[in-house]
Formats: sequence, structure tokens, C-alpha cells
Amino acid sequence: MSAFIILGAQWGDEGKGKMTDYLAEDAKVVVRFQGGNNAGHTVEVGDKQYKLHLIPSGILYDDKINIIGNGVVVDPQALFQEIDYLEGLGTKVTPDKLAISDRAHLIMPYHKILDSLKEKARGKNDIGTTGKGIGPCYTDKFERSGIRVCDLMHKEVFEEKLKENINMKNDYITKVLGGEALNFDEIFNTYMEYADRMRPFVKDTSVVIYDEIKKDNSVLFEGAQGMLLDIDYGTYPYVTSSNTTAGGVSSGTGIGPTMISKAIGIAKAYTTRVGKGPFPTELNDETGDWIREKGHEYGVTTGRSRRCGWLDLVILKTTTRVSGLTSFAVTKIDTLAGLEKIKVCTGYKFDGKVIDYFPASLEDLAKCEPIYEEFQGWGEEIEEARSYEELPENAKIYLKKIEEFTGTKVAIVSVGPKRDQTIRVGTI
Ligand code: GDP
Ligand code: IMO
Ligand code: MG
Repeated sequence: MSAFIILGAQWGDEGKGKMTDYLAEDAKVVVRFQGGNNAGHTVEVGDKQYKLHLIPSGILYDDKINIIGNGVVVDPQALFQEIDYLEGLGTKVTPDKLAISDRAHLIMPYHKILDSLKEKARGKNDIGTTGKGIGPCYTDKFERSGIRVCDLMHKEVFEEKLKENINMKNDYITKVLGGEALNFDEIFNTYMEYADRMRPFVKDTSVVIYDEIKKDNSVLFEGAQGMLLDIDYGTYPYVTSSNTTAGGVSSGTGIGPTMISKAIGIAKAYTTRVGKGPFPTELNDETGDWIREKGHEYGVTTGRSRRCGWLDLVILKTTTRVSGLTSFAVTKIDTLAGLEKIKVCTGYKFDGKVIDYFPASLEDLAKCEPIYEEFQGWGEEIEEARSYEELPENAKIYLKKIEEFTGTKVAIVSVGPKRDQTIRVGTI
């Protein structure tokens, strides 16, 4: 039995899409378990680049089953746009390759409107969301007024739930947030078209995954976002609205934790963040700009430039603990080539003490001063390296530090965006 989890170990955009595509070669099933089209996962195969938001990164293979699990929030408009985009690039998306959970919640037009109006209302305290309606959709789910994929499959049920929701949302949108009311008929008719197109893909995906595990087929759970965007363990409230950590997998897929054997953390060789919120090792200087340009650090979903900073081992240690990581895949180490010195944060000075965990309170986090260890860089570019032996000594020392500090082995090193720019160091 082999079922394992791929997780972002920092603030997202670590290269989960690339690593999922790479590891999917040996798997039968790839499953998204949380988030929605706020994610932007890049996969490069040959000379083609694919930007995926909602569809799992196993879709580029013809023989994999890709699953959008019950923990994901699904915007049908974004889903069909993505299917059309993939088909335009020559990748078929058929019901034998993609299944959508009947229990997944639907992102509705009012969720997107609420996302942007609420951000506006927060003023200078805005979160910097992707504007895709993620937070408002999860709010309805937990408030128990959400509309699920299975509801969309029943016209009368959908009609009743939509009526109830539109009435309440229109009141809130117009009277509290000063927005414009939405039209029931327009949304109803559009969603009925979506229903017809979605029907062949809709399944009880927990059963599909379970059956594949029982047949001894390998399953990959593809995380979106990263540990510090987790609703419980992230830098709340500057987080997303789902559990991005390993804990989210079972509830987001209907597969019990005892059936999952491994969790691999995808860690960028430095740190980036999009949107607002604390970032202790952020570099607001020329080095930060240099990393952004060399690493092409611009968001896949919103195009925003990503904030860049040094690698923070306190974060990786926290991820190891919270998600029970069994190994790391370190990505984008090629970007660091050319820096004379590279710093790594190994603790925070806080209240006269040294700590190596991430405090809950943002006020405490603001008082944390990173403690750095300095490493010698390497001059030579390494995107052509295909074995550990080919890496420069100083890059190996850097990787060893990650292992030593976190107590977790580095099983994979990624030296470029393409499938073959990957070095397997050990078992995951
Ligand atoms: P994700 O959200 O975690 O899937 O990551 P994104 O796709 O948002 O961002 C990662 C970016 O880095 C993408 O443009 C990838 O093509 C690229 N990438 C992934 N791994 C590597 C790597 O090892 N080296 C370089 N240079 N680029 C990489
Ligand atoms: P992938 O899967 C990086 C960030 C947003 C914002 C916060 C909340 O590509 O790593 P939301 O729209 O989710 O309510 O926004 O979370 N965010 C991401 N940052 N990568 C992502 O996904 C992200 N998804 C959301 O920028 O700060
Ligand atoms: Mg991304």
C-alpha cells in the first residue's frame, strides 16, 4: 500500500505542481484535498508549460485518475475554463481521467463578490486574498448553508438552496457592504448548464480512492498553498481558509490517516510569500530583488510579485512537526547560484531567549529577530546537474544543514522547472 502526501512547507509556490507531476509517474491516482483555484501550480513538460489551478497535476499523463476531493471548493466556471485550456494544449480531460467529489462545495458568484467587498471593507488590514471566493465559500460550508456538487445534480434542491442563499447574500451585499444585488435567474440558468457538463465527472471519490489503495495502486495527495497559510497553524489571519497541513488530507478526501504512509514537504531553497502578513526573513533590498528576478517569483494565479527572503529553518522544523514529514524535496536551489554568501535562519531572538518554533501571536512574531548562519555560495549554475555528485560542495553543505536542523532527510533536489531537472537523492 502506498499513499502519500505532497505539501507546501512554507507560504505556497514551493514547486508542488512540478514535484507532483514528477512523482505521479509512479502513481495511479492524484488527489487535491483542499483549497480551490486560489492555487497556481506550474508543470513543465518538454517545451510546454501548464498552469493548473483546480485540476490535479497528474492530468498531463493519460493513464492517471485525477480527483478533486470533498475538501476542495469548486468554482465551475474556473473548472471548465481550465478543462478548455488544457484541451487547447492537447491534453484530454475525460471522466476516466478526472473525478469530482459529490461532497465538494461550490463557489458561487456571490462568494467572489463577497471576497472582494470584504477585502475592501478591511481597508489597510486586508489579507491580500486571491479574490477567488475561497474564504466566503468555506464560511458557508462551516456555517452549514453551502451548496454542494451533489445539490447541483438535483435541480429542485439546487433551486431552493440558491433562493435561500441569494436572499440572504443580497441583503448583506447591498445593506452592509454597499454592493449590487445579484440576479437569481441568471445564476440559476448558468449553473444548470454547468450541472449538465459536470455530471459525468461527479462521483463518491472516497470510494474511488479507497478501491485504488486496496488494489495496491499508489495514490498522491497534492497539497495546495503551504504550512504557514494553514487556517490553524499559519500566520492567522493572513492565511487561507483550509487546512493545508497533513491533517487536512483525511477530512478532505474521506481516506483514514492509517492508510497514508508518507508526507513529503516541498521546500523552496529560499522563502517567498504573496499577499500580506508577517515574514521574518524577508529581504526588502537588492538581494531580495535579485532572487525575485532570477527565480521568476511572480504569482501564477494573480500575477502579483512575490516577496522574497532567506531560507527559514524554523519554518521547516515547524512543518516537519505539524505534518509529520518523512522527507523534503528542496526546489529552486539553482536560483541561488551566483550569490557569494547565503544566509539561513536557525532561530529567533524573542524576549531575551532563543526559540526555534513559530509563535501563534502575530504581536510576538513581530518581536522575533531572526538569527542567521551564513553559508558560502557557489558560482556555477546547476540546472544541468542530474546527480547529487554533480552538485557543488557548498550546495551539498546547504542541503545537509536542512537535514541536520529539521531531522528530516532531503530525498529530492530540484534544479529547474522541468520534469527531468530533478535529482533523486534517496527514498521519499
Ligand atoms: P506551486 O504553487 O507550489 O506548484 O509552485 P508555482 O508553480 O506557483 O511556483 C513555482 C515556480 O517555480 C514555477 O514557475 C515552476 O515552474 C518553477 N520551478 C519549480 N521547481 C523549480 C526549480 O527547481 N528550479 C526553478 N528554477 N524553477 C522551478
Ligand atoms: P499555491 O497552491 C501562495 C495566499 C493569498 C493570500 C492568502 C489568502 O499556488 O501554493 P485566499 O484567496 O486563499 O483566501 O488568500 O493566501 N494564497 C497563496 N499564496 N500560493 C498559493 O497557492 C496561495 N493560495 C492562496 O495570496 O495571502
Ligand atoms: Mg503556486
